[in-house]
Amino acid sequence: MVQASPSLPVDEALRQSEERFRLLVEAVKDYAIFMLNPAGEVASWNTGAQRIKGYAATEIIGQHFRVFYPAERQASRHPERELEIALHEGRYEEEGWRIRKGGGRFWANVVITAIRNPAGDHLGFTKVTRDVTERGRLLQERIDAATALEIANRELEKANVRLARAVADQSQFLAVTAHELRNPIAVLSGSARTLGDYWPVLTDVERTELLDAMSLSSRRVSRLLNDLLTASRLEANAIELHPMPVRLDALLGASVATARAADRDAAIDLDIAPGLTVFADPERLAQAVDNLISNAIQHGRPPVSVEAHEDAGNVQIRVRDGGSGVAEELVPRLFQRFASGEHHRGTGLGLFIVRELARSQGGDAWYESPSGQSSFVLSMPVDSAAPREWERQTQN
Ligand SMILES: Nc1ncnc2c1ncn2[C@@H]1O[C@H](COP(=O)(O)OP(=O)(O)O)[C@@H](O)[C@H]1O
Ligand SMILES: [Mg+2]
Repeated sequence: MVQASPSLPVDEALRQSEERFRLLVEAVKDYAIFMLNPAGEVASWNTGAQRIKGYAATEIIGQHFRVFYPAERQASRHPERELEIALHEGRYEEEGWRIRKGGGRFWANVVITAIRNPAGDHLGFTKVTRDVTERGRLLQERIDAATALEIANRELEKANVRLARAVADQSQFLAVTAHELRNPIAVLSGSARTLGDYWPVLTDVERTELLDAMSLSSRRVSRLLNDLLTASRLEANAIELHPMPVRLDALLGASVATARAADRDAAIDLDIAPGLTVFADPERLAQAVDNLISNAIQHGRPPVSVEAHEDAGNVQIRVRDGGSGVAEELVPRLFQRFASGEHHRGTGLGLFIVRELARSQGGDAWYESPSGQSSFVLSMPVDSAAPREWERQTQN
């Protein structure tokens, strides 16, 4: 390395050569090349270091080189570990974020080399740092793109699951509708044909029976339609409610009267505490109560009873029947859509509607089975203005 010129003594040639080398290193612009003492403090500085890191030589010489690292790397003592590795293995190289004077980040390629004298004593380290931010940016962009893709994929998967559920729901809705329509429509068309073909020879009683069958079937179809519409609106969160104070004696009385009219054999008791008023959409509340009463008649046994009483800010409407209750295996999913007992016809939407309607109006619905009987409870918030109204009436 050292080229002694013939006219100079060896010592002087060596000194000149070292000086040339120092000047060369100092002048390098594209690399930060500097030395650290064994403790990791900056011992020399070049033009490239000033350009890349932003410090002038006078500002940085004597400071520990940890200042070039992000706070989290300093906290984990990464700079110190780099020196340990370099000392142990002779050399350490990595790419990572470094901090310029003033706090700006750049992506750096760093090589640290341990320096020893010929006797093997440790003198310090050289550190060569290159600003490869552009490469880092591309890398980060690639990572960002991959992350975005992964997120998009996950969203897509979720959407797929929702879509599959919606498709399954649709076909279930269709199957239920078709199944439930078949019977009443057969009754309607059969009765209409019989009446048309045989009108003159039918007795009055036979004509009345056929017409009754027709109106019962058309009521069933319109109830089915109403339940399907309500269920799909509840499902889509698109139900419109018009809540107002509702007198329960009138509402429950009407529901019981309708059920008695539909089924002349239906024995239904009504027991309601006077003056109960809830805050609810009256039509939707009636729809829920109708569902519970028709379940008691259809799936349960007489006697059927409807009661209402107040309990801690809520009114509990209880529909009971004398049957043996809901099959045990059905209970856990009783209020889910399309849950229906094995031997019953039906949409399996009734109790789903009851509970969803109750919950969307601040109430709830549940099943109780005291001593094996069935008892369905529909709980609705009391109309908070009602007691004052009631007090006013009793005072006057
Ligand atoms: N009062 C009841 N007694 C016994 N089982 C009942 C009663 N009410 C509901 N169930 C059971 O719960 C199921 C779900 O009821 P519901 O959601 O109204 O659907 P659907 O009446 O169309 O079958 C019924 O199929 C029946 O098996
Ligand atoms: Mg039902």
